Amino acid sequence: MAKSTKTKSTAKKKTSPKASKGATPSLSAAAAVDIGLTEANRKKVADGLSNVLADSFTLYLKTHQFHWNVRGPMFNSLHVMFEGQYTEEWAALDEIAERIRALGFDAPGTYAQFIRLSTIKDEQIRDTGDWEAMVAQLVIGNEAVCRVCRATLDIASKVSDEPTVDLMTQRLSIHEKNAWMLRSLLQ
Ligand SMILES: [Fe+2]
Repeated sequence: MAKSTKTKSTAKKKTSPKASKGATPSLSAAAAVDIGLTEANRKKVADGLSNVLADSFTLYLKTHQFHWNVRGPMFNSLHVMFEGQYTEEWAALDEIAERIRALGFDAPGTYAQFIRLSTIKDEQIRDTGDWEAMVAQLVIGNEAVCRVCRATLDIASKVSDEPTVDLMTQRLSIHEKNAWMLRSLLQ
């Protein structure tokens, strides 16, 4: 039997991307945010989003608190309605905060920061569980979020930050609908 003669592969070894000069961006270049928006414009949008996050968090907390404390003949329907709203609002907080990070800034996340940035009053319906007062506060809260989303959408639109425009459009659709549905309970 003829010895098999191993022939050396003539195929060249694949060169790793690291081997080619200049192919690997430096760590410092990667650490800087360079997404086609100036730092000043990213900051303007991130500041707007921080206001949106603070109002959205305050509204989330208020809606969840009312889910717990509502009383009276409307209990079941409002308990369920509030749960649907706060669950959606909770998920949105992450989207808003992560957009701030993608723009290169820290997201606010302490009670002190939220109280400073939020336009929604941190207040409680004392003892009575008065459903009409709760619904009225949530109408006002949802409308407050709409106003800050619209202002942030405007800033983002001016600097061509389309992902933020998209996010603000989505949040506006939700909070305008929530405000309408809640307001309808009082009419
Ligand atoms: Fe619950």
